[in-house]
This record gives sequence, structure tokens and C-alpha cells, in this order.
Amino acid sequence: METEAGRKIAVIVVAAGSGERLGRGVPKARVPLGGELMLTHALRGVLAADIASHICVALPDGDAELQRLCGVLAAETSAAGGPEITVVDGGSSRAESVRSALAALAPEVSAVVIHDAARALTPPEVFHRIAASLAEGALAVIPALAVVDTIKTVENSDPGTASIAPERVRCTPARDQLRAVQTPQGFDLATLRRAHEQAALLTQSQAAEVTDDAMLVEAMGVAVYVVKGSARSLKITTPTDLLLAEALLEGPLAPRWVEG
Ligand code: CTP
Ligand code: MG
Repeated sequence: METEAGRKIAVIVVAAGSGERLGRGVPKARVPLGGELMLTHALRGVLAADIASHICVALPDGDAELQRLCGVLAAETSAAGGPEITVVDGGSSRAESVRSALAALAPEVSAVVIHDAARALTPPEVFHRIAASLAEGALAVIPALAVVDTIKTVENSDPGTASIAPERVRCTPARDQLRAVQTPQGFDLATLRRAHEQAALLTQSQAAEVTDDAMLVEAMGVAVYVVKGSARSLKITTPTDLLLAEALLEGPLAPRWVEG
């Protein structure tokens, strides 16, 4: 789809993670959810939102099953006149996976939306809010929710007090200014490419700390706008998250779901 400003949007779906914390022994994108693989849900969600002229999926290196899945979906989508779906091999960090996909986007694209396959149940409205902000001229826009817990930053206890507890509180940021950030995150393509060129210089441990794309763009001093996310966009990370996602899909709550 084109934004009102005539920009073509690509959606990058990062699905190359190993799913360590889910503990299924297979990459998370291959974990079943409501009778389908997690990646199938994620891609069907992107297709339902209908904002993309190209969808590029970063897969675990050489994963034949997921390559096949994307091939089938690509053929089905192309036959229906939908967007092109292509795949790339992801990298050893999320940022590397994004970079592989950024290098493989269709040339006419000028805006990009990065989405975690692990947020497999993200509703179309969230994609629409991101696309609308890009159309209004945002160089960067992310979905977020207010946090319900009080959040504190901590530091290690002094050696003399470590027997009391390993950490102590440093400070308590005002909760009404805190947001839990999700994907899909939308960017002007040239801006995100510049941010990732700089991130490519990070060490492996620094790269592991890059948990979203917006933080790279923030570091360049670019304004990052915030729209409303959704509780349905939870990142399926732990076995409890998977239970919750199954419940949202199939359980008695599903018909009564209203976006918070
Ligand atoms: N991701 C990726 N390439 C990596 C690491 C992560 O494409 N090298 C993707 C994941 O597939 C996921 C998203 O980034 O869709 C968010 O990552 P996370 O939830 O941490 O997934 P995993 O890395 O798979 O999980 P874990 O950290 O528990 O291993
Ligand atoms: Mg991870």
C-alpha cells in the first residue's frame, strides 16, 4: 500500500530468533499456536492489515520448513494480487536480522515497518496507526502501552551489603511517563538505514542490547512518535505468554475481547 504521501511501505518480519526462553527446542517461529505455526499467525496479521507493498521475512539461517511456509504463503498471496513476500537468512542478533532484511527491500520502498514475529496476534489497527503517522510525515513511530507496575531502576549492592540482597534501588521513574513499547515500529527507510549502519559497528554484546529499532533512531536525535499499542500485541516470550496467546485465540475470553 502507499501512504497518503505516496510512500510505499515494506514490512520486515523478524523471525530468526531461537526461542530460548520459550524452551521448546525449536525456533519460536515454528512453535504451534492455535493449530498453526507462530509465523503463520504473524504473516496473516501483516497481510490482514494491508499496508505493505513488500513483506520481507528474516528466518533462522537455512530453516527449510519456514522457507517452505513462506513460499506457500507467497504463492497464495501473489495469486490474490497481494504484496510480494520474500525471505532472507537472519543474523545472530535481532539487529543483524533487521539489517539483512533492510538490504533486500524492493527499490521503490521509502518507508519500512519492523515487526516481531513473536507478536503474532497484533491486530490490524496497530499497523494502521503506524502507517497513518508515517503518512503524516513521522520519521519514526512506535506503538506503546502505559505500564501497570511501578518500575524501578536498580544497581548492585555494595560488597559490604551484598549479604542483605544482591541489588538495591537506584530510582523510581514517574509511572505516568513510562510506556511499554511494542512492534510494529515504522520508519522513514533512509533514516532507519542510517541508524543501522551505525549499529553495525557495535560489538556483539552491545548488539545484543539493541532490543528495538527505535532506540537506534533515538540515538541519532530523531523524534520518535508514540501511538497506542494493544494488549493483543504481547510478545510471546515465555511459556506463560504462549498460554495467554492460546487463550486469546481460542478461549472463552476471545469473543469478549475488547482492545484496552
Ligand atoms: N529475532 C531475530 N533474529 C535474532 C533474534 C531475534 O529475528 N537473532 C527476532 C525473533 O524471532 C522475534 C523478535 O526478534 O520475533 C524478538 O525477539 P525475542 O522475543 O527475544 O525472540 P527470540 O530471540 O527467538 O527468543 P529468546 O530471546 O528467548 O531466544
Ligand atoms: Mg531474543
